[in-house]
Amino acid sequence: MLTPLPRVKTGVPGLDDLIEGGLPRGSITTLSGDTGCGKTTFGVQFLYAGASKYEENGLYISFDEKRRQMYRNMGRFDWDLQKLDRDKKIVFIEYPPFEVDQFLQQESIIRDLIDKVGIERLVVDSILPLVMVYDTEKERREGTLKVLEKMKNWGCTTLLITEGGGSITQDPQRTWVEYLSDGLIYLYNIRRKNYRERALEVVKMRGVLHETKVCPMKIGEHGIEVFPGQQLFDEK
Ligand SMILES: Nc1ncnc2c1ncn2[C@@H]1O[C@H](COP(=O)(O)OP(=O)(O)OP(=O)(O)O)[C@@H](O)[C@H]1O
Ligand SMILES: [Mg+2]
Repeated sequence: MLTPLPRVKTGVPGLDDLIEGGLPRGSITTLSGDTGCGKTTFGVQFLYAGASKYEENGLYISFDEKRRQMYRNMGRFDWDLQKLDRDKKIVFIEYPPFEVDQFLQQESIIRDLIDKVGIERLVVDSILPLVMVYDTEKERREGTLKVLEKMKNWGCTTLLITEGGGSITQDPQRTWVEYLSDGLIYLYNIRRKNYRERALEVVKMRGVLHETKVCPMKIGEHGIEVFPGQQLFDEK
């Protein structure tokens, strides 16, 4: 028997039980889902838990939300992000999408920051601008592989956010990110008659015997919570 991979607690109640105790340390997991389904919340909660409970500093690289806007939105949760930001336990870097080239060329700046601050958790929200710069399928696959390899070398436990509905997709940009990551989690906000229900599914996690059920999920003042023991509405 192989010794189990060391785990990193996600900080999302209910989720670690689905994946044998947490994300494999140093792995790259893609988090996909439609707009408003909780991807940014999940990413920030992962960093918040690391910084506040597990003594693991986090880096949030955003190509999407602006820093002020992100802090305002996340202010709806009972997390003291400002203090962790001041203490450099969570570092937030914002790149406008047109600075993607710069990001790819300045990789050593990020790597130095990771070493200097002792970053162990990384969230990229969203990874898509980084892989949309390629024209052909071949370039896209190779480019995505290169970006992911760079990030793997940074040594952090990483979440890559992509947007788009929770199903295996033909979207060429997203497909390669999903294929080449170690793990894949889908978030859903499913419409049923006149209301919606949130759910989470672990689609893959290399080297992990994970639960295959689509589990109900809630967003409340403490953030995201997953309920592995409950059923979604259509099974009630
Ligand atoms: N305190 C709260 N209690 C319950 N729900 C909340 C609370 N704060 C925010 N939400 C909800 O959380 C949802 C998820 O937002 P989030 O920004 O994480 O989604 P997202 O998947 O990143 O969306 P986008 O694709 O637009 O970036 C929002 O639709 C909002 O209604
Ligand atoms: Mg978001």
